[in-house]
Amino acid sequence: MVYPGWCKADSVARSDESSGAIQTWQRERLIMRTGRDLATGNHNWRRRDIIKAAAGGLAALAVPTPGLAQAAPISRLAFGACAEQNKPQPIWLPILAQRPELFLFLGDNIYADTRDPDVMAAKYRQLAAQPGFQRLRGETPIIATWDDHDYGENDAGADYPLKRVSKQIFLDFFDEPPGTERRLRDDGIYTAQTFGPPGRRLQVILLDTRFARTPLLRIDRLSALARRSRAMGPYQPTTTATARMLSERQWLWLAAQLSVPADIRILCSSTPILMNFTGWETWANMPGELSRLKRLITTTSASGVVLISGDVHRAELSRSQTNVPYPLWELTSSGLTKSWPYAAPNMNRVGAAYNGRNFGTIEIDWERLDPRIALRAHDEAGMPVISQTLSLSELRQV
Ligand SMILES: [Fe+2]
Repeated sequence: MVYPGWCKADSVARSDESSGAIQTWQRERLIMRTGRDLATGNHNWRRRDIIKAAAGGLAALAVPTPGLAQAAPISRLAFGACAEQNKPQPIWLPILAQRPELFLFLGDNIYADTRDPDVMAAKYRQLAAQPGFQRLRGETPIIATWDDHDYGENDAGADYPLKRVSKQIFLDFFDEPPGTERRLRDDGIYTAQTFGPPGRRLQVILLDTRFARTPLLRIDRLSALARRSRAMGPYQPTTTATARMLSERQWLWLAAQLSVPADIRILCSSTPILMNFTGWETWANMPGELSRLKRLITTTSASGVVLISGDVHRAELSRSQTNVPYPLWELTSSGLTKSWPYAAPNMNRVGAAYNGRNFGTIEIDWERLDPRIALRAHDEAGMPVISQTLSLSELRQV
């Protein structure tokens, strides 16, 4: 099978066929280019193949992993969250039917809920055995982040003791090559990558909202029970100066990423960012951190930012016009196997929430002078249940 992204190395390989061997300078240039990509913190999907090619010639390029040429523009993405590994997962078929060029896995990718690495690894193997996921994995590049359950435990944060082992299991499962910055960093699994030429450049930024997140503030049991009638959770905002969704190093990295040239930026958070306070896990539990994120988007003059998230077992659109340089939109889609019949109050919600199992898509029409971005949540038959189209010109400060 020829995967998207194969073309560039393939053309090098074909040019080498005429000369009988890969030229040394070509090998070195490929590896040097790969090294520079890694130096920027961006993951190069095909580094392994290129190095293998340099070492072993054309035969090593015969079995590529699914990858994307960073130079190729992307027009169709799908995303999802909350996939119980021990349940049937038929929803991968309608996801595949969308022919996504990239799939973003936004967390609770398995329900590990353990402090035993063997149990965690076994649960990843259950996901790997899901036929639909196997097909997706074979056909579509996947970039993943985690949420609490695959990180380790329900609503877990920085104090989860197994986080470094969990990180290794996660990165092994999602085929992160050895030696990348993502492997070497000691503060989480956050990552970013850009695709496409100037004018059609898409950036995906995946945050790690678990590794450094400080403890949540919980209300007492009776008050929590009283909230249930409003489908609200047991947490309350914490306003202490030390409350953190991201580490200082992650904030610095994010500032650098938001300054990378890109036309559209998909900012991925496992937990919802713009959702108004629900008592469940959202950025609203740490209002200082939410303000900091909005401020960062403003001070970096990052245009084209669209937010996506998972975790909450329903789909909905949120919009914020407060303290932002332009209206910010967020599509939350969850879960792939999970659903919840209630929707907690969300004053930033646009339209109705969808309470069934669902997945999200982002379709970009780069052909227009003013590119269009279609955000959709789909039910488990693949039918759109939430839809919002934005013009790229709406996503910049005027
Ligand atoms: Fe979660």
